[in-house]
Amino acid sequence: MKLKKIHCIILALVFLGVTGVNAGMPKDGMYYFNQMKDSVIEILEENQILINTKQDGSIKTEKLKPEAVYKRAYKMFKKIVGKDFSLKQLKGETNPEKIAPVLASLLQGGRVTIAKAQKYINTEPDGTVKLKKFVPAVFGRITIDRFTKKTGVPMKQTSLSREGFPQRNPYNAPNEWEAKILNKFLEPGWELNKGIGVFEENEYRYVKPIYVKKGCLICHGKPIGEKGHYGHPREGYKLGDIRGGISVALPSH
Ligand code: HEC
Repeated sequence: MKLKKIHCIILALVFLGVTGVNAGMPKDGMYYFNQMKDSVIEILEENQILINTKQDGSIKTEKLKPEAVYKRAYKMFKKIVGKDFSLKQLKGETNPEKIAPVLASLLQGGRVTIAKAQKYINTEPDGTVKLKKFVPAVFGRITIDRFTKKTGVPMKQTSLSREGFPQRNPYNAPNEWEAKILNKFLEPGWELNKGIGVFEENEYRYVKPIYVKKGCLICHGKPIGEKGHYGHPREGYKLGDIRGGISVALPSH
C-alpha cells in the first residue's frame, strides 16, 4: 500500500517534469540564459581533470577553472551580441526572436574560449604535449545536451561539408533548412554575426554563423588535407571564414 502511494507520487512528479518542459507559459529570456550559463559551468566542472590537470593530478593554471573560463566566455559573448546589450533586457522577455541569438552567442563564446585555451589544456608545464580531447565542438555538444535536458529546447552546432571534407562528426550534418541558411551566410557581403530565424510549426528556428578564429586554425586550417592532432585532415579554413552555425529551436507559443 505504502509502496503504491510512493509510486503515484513518483509518477506525478515524472509527469509534471515531462509536461513542464514543453507546455505551459513561455519562459522568460533570463531563465534560458541562466540555464545555458549553468550548463557551461557544470560541464567545465565535470571535465576539470581533462582541462586543467597535470599528469600528477594537480591544477595547471587558475585561468582554466570553471568560473574563470565562464568569465572569459561571457566577455566574448558581449563582444558578439554588441556593447549595448544588457541582461536586464532579457528579464520578462519572452520573445523567442530575442532569446535565440543570446543563447547561440553564449554557447559560441564558450566554444571560442575553449579553442583559445587549447594550448594550455594540452601542454604540460615541462612543454610536452598530452592531448586531453577537450575540443571546442565536443564541449559545445555536451553543453547543448545538458541545456536541452534542463529546458527541452533543442540546439545543435552544424556545418556544411567542404569539397572532399565531410563533417568530422556526421551528427553535426545540417538538415535541409539549416543547409539553406548556411549557404545564405556564404553569400558575399553577409553582415558579420547576423543570424536568420523563422517561425514554423510552433517553433522559432534560428541559426547564427560560427567564424574561424585564430585558435581554430591549428585543427581546421592549413596545411590542407594534412592530419591534425585528432587524426582529422585539416579543411584549409582561413581566419574569418564561416565554419558553420549554431542552430536553436525555441517554442513560439
Ligand atoms: C583541438 C582541435 C580543434 C580545435 C582547436 C577546433 N576544432 Fe572544431 N572540431 C574538432 C574536432 C575533433 C571536431 C569533431 C568533433 C566531434 O566529434 O563532434 C570538430 C568539429 C567542429 C565543428 C562541427 C562540424 C564538423 O565538422 O563536425 C565545427 C562547426 C567546428 N569544429 C568549428 C570550430 C571552430 C569555429 C573552432 C575555433 C573557435 C574550432 N572548431 C576549433 C577539432 C578542433
